[in-house]
Amino acid sequence: MNSQNPLSVWARNIAPSPTLAVDAKAKALLAAGEDVCGFGAGEPDFDTPEFIKEAAVKALREGKTKYAPAAGLPDLRAALVEKFARENGIPGLEPSQMVVSPGGKYSCYLAILAVCGPGDEVLVPAPYWVSYPEMVKLAGATPKFLFAGDDADFKITPAQLRDAVTPKTKLLILNSPSNPTGTVYTRAELEALVAVAVENNILLLSDEIYEHLLYDGAAHASPASFGKEAAAATITVGGFSKSFSMTGWRLGTLMAPKAIAAAVADLQSQTTSNATTFAQYGALAALRDPKASGEAIASMLQVFDRRRIRLHEGLTAIKGIRCTRARGAFYLFPNIASFGLSSTEFSAKLLESEKVAVVPGVAFGADEYVRLSYATSDGVIEKGLERMARFCAGL
Ligand SMILES: Cc1ncc(COP(=O)(O)O)c(C=O)c1O
Repeated sequence: MNSQNPLSVWARNIAPSPTLAVDAKAKALLAAGEDVCGFGAGEPDFDTPEFIKEAAVKALREGKTKYAPAAGLPDLRAALVEKFARENGIPGLEPSQMVVSPGGKYSCYLAILAVCGPGDEVLVPAPYWVSYPEMVKLAGATPKFLFAGDDADFKITPAQLRDAVTPKTKLLILNSPSNPTGTVYTRAELEALVAVAVENNILLLSDEIYEHLLYDGAAHASPASFGKEAAAATITVGGFSKSFSMTGWRLGTLMAPKAIAAAVADLQSQTTSNATTFAQYGALAALRDPKASGEAIASMLQVFDRRRIRLHEGLTAIKGIRCTRARGAFYLFPNIASFGLSSTEFSAKLLESEKVAVVPGVAFGADEYVRLSYATSDGVIEKGLERMARFCAGL
């Protein structure tokens, strides 16, 4: 053993989550009595709907406190089959294609681990969710980035994808609606990308965790619904964190062709056994009551939409900031390049001088931007905008 460094190659190479770090710093300042406006949060600021909580409490009281099957409760896997038919236009799936995991994050990780290894390349459109590159590296594979800025509505093109493919390309990761940009690919745009992936024998990881968070008439499309070939190439990740304000429950989903789902379930069985048993009963209640779920999501969306419009309006009124009015998730991703600062410098100065916490775009592979989450109160949005305007005017 190298006595100087006990850490493995995996531990030495992994970067901690910068989004969690910004959120933690803002919370620490708040706890210390500072008047911080935090735009770092990656979670809805609502409580979990009561009927979902009740179902989990009931399960606890009934003694559902033991291990569950590694891939998830049979009833929940069956309910997921119905969910995909009802909401995503994918009929005829089987429970054996479903895996319930402790979080969409873990679903993504196991999906990558199940199909990628050393020597493989994974195409990651940038700006990307912070965890994808690190997960790819943990699988021993190599991330390759395809950049699409605000001038392209943060969307890669089929030509860009075709150019990036090499004989080593194994997987493409798509995330629509997107974290950090909030962009939403149309069905036609996704179909064109999926066609290139299928032509080139590349698998697709479609991270659809924000599928319900849509505005301005945007519609969600699932690549696995684009026909047999697309379905055979696609691993679909989802979860309950964002749609149902269940971030702390740690519940994610994965749907894939049978062989991949089985491999994911095996990986899960050896690394975490199963997602928390009584929590799965809460998720089951959410899926079994589409009416109550739909109402809960709609009321959350109404609030998010109002904040999105206000934050966008306020940001674009600041001289030097350019910002697309994203139609999904709960983030805006303004371009701050005109100020001549790196995103890290911009964010650090903003936090220091005005106590406004935003996430530097460099964390998402886009140094000309910062990410603001509007999963925060109207009051914080107003105060934060005022402070940002003052800060930018002084640059
Ligand atoms: C794009 C994306 N995928 C997956 C996740 C994972 O969410 P969770 O593990 O809470 O289900 C997140 C959470 O921030 C995300 O932004």
